[in-house]
Amino acid sequence: MRAIQQREWGGPEMLQLVEVEQPQPGPGEVLVRVIAAGVNPVDYYTREGRAYNRVLTLPFVHGWDASGIVAAVGYGVTRFRPGDRVFGMPQFPREAGAYAEYVAAPARHFALMPEELGFAEAAGLPLAGLTAWQMLVEVAKVTVGQRVLVAGAAGGVGHLAIQVAKARGAHVIGTARATKHAFLRELGADETVDYTVSDVAAEVRDADVVIQMFGGEHGLGALESLRRGGILVSGQAAWTPGLLERADELGVRATGYLVDPDGAGLEALADLVRTRQLRVHVDQELPLAEAAKAHELIAQGRTAGKIVLNVAEGA
Ligand SMILES: NC(=O)c1ccc[n+]([C@@H]2O[C@H](COP(=O)([O-])OP(=O)(O)OC[C@H]3O[C@@H](n4cnc5c(N)ncnc54)[C@H](OP(=O)(O)O)[C@@H]3O)[C@@H](O)[C@H]2O)c1
Repeated sequence: MRAIQQREWGGPEMLQLVEVEQPQPGPGEVLVRVIAAGVNPVDYYTREGRAYNRVLTLPFVHGWDASGIVAAVGYGVTRFRPGDRVFGMPQFPREAGAYAEYVAAPARHFALMPEELGFAEAAGLPLAGLTAWQMLVEVAKVTVGQRVLVAGAAGGVGHLAIQVAKARGAHVIGTARATKHAFLRELGADETVDYTVSDVAAEVRDADVVIQMFGGEHGLGALESLRRGGILVSGQAAWTPGLLERADELGVRATGYLVDPDGAGLEALADLVRTRQLRVHVDQELPLAEAAKAHELIAQGRTAGKIVLNVAEGA
């Protein structure tokens, strides 16, 4: 099968389109014919060989986010049948190999695609959507009427976090440059702040929850936006010196978070799609062979919504 493989750590030129052996589903696993694969910032951090992503060993096939069609099921799988349309973020942060024509992974790491989504949109949902869902619902436990600040609201995670927080009944404030404020409003943001010209910490006060994806000195600045007892959940915080000490001083909570594969979370996201409370904005679609270009784009940090690779030929 065709796959994007990497043999050495380094730049986008390390991504090679190669032929590798098709995986086979083990017990409890499904084999998915991948139609589209989502691209995330962690893909290029991984390519560069940074930090915790070194759990992968070279050579490996890239990618985690996949949408496609179940081609076969392993022993004991009852959740899916061949022909089902599924999406998921299997194995993260271990190797999943989603930038490839087939993926074999635990059935519980996938969910049925809602009919409202095409394959490209479904491939953009798992990693970013699970991050938003797990941070907001499982960690911060957002409830009706709470003030939620999404720092980095226009990106893959942020644009979904706005919608998940709105679906929980929150008042949502999103940060992005001004050219993206109309986009944030369309997604449901109640207030927008241009972080390029305003001090977000000074402008936003009394937040119950901050979802920190970008900016704000990796969460240190954003702590000041919280009311006493509020919580900051950061995709960056694990590496921020002084964050927990400052949170203690302010009487707020702060935690880093790393997304988990989670079929139930995917089903919750699919339900939001079915009830028209969540949509995925695909910024750009590229063919699998242009994975290097997709990495260059995601590394620029300007994507509105998601970048997706079309894996199936003719998709
Ligand atoms: N810990 C986890 O489990 C986890 C999971 C997913 C992602 N992450 C991390 O979270 C970050 C966001 O991921 P993503 O997928 O949403 O990225 P993304 O799709 O690449 O985000 C791009 C968007 O970020 C915005 N942005 C860039 N710098 C900003 C800043 N200083 N303040 C506000 N917005 C800014 C840009 O909007 P403007 O043009 O308006 O700047 C752009 O629209 C990445 O660092 C990623 O690695 C962590």
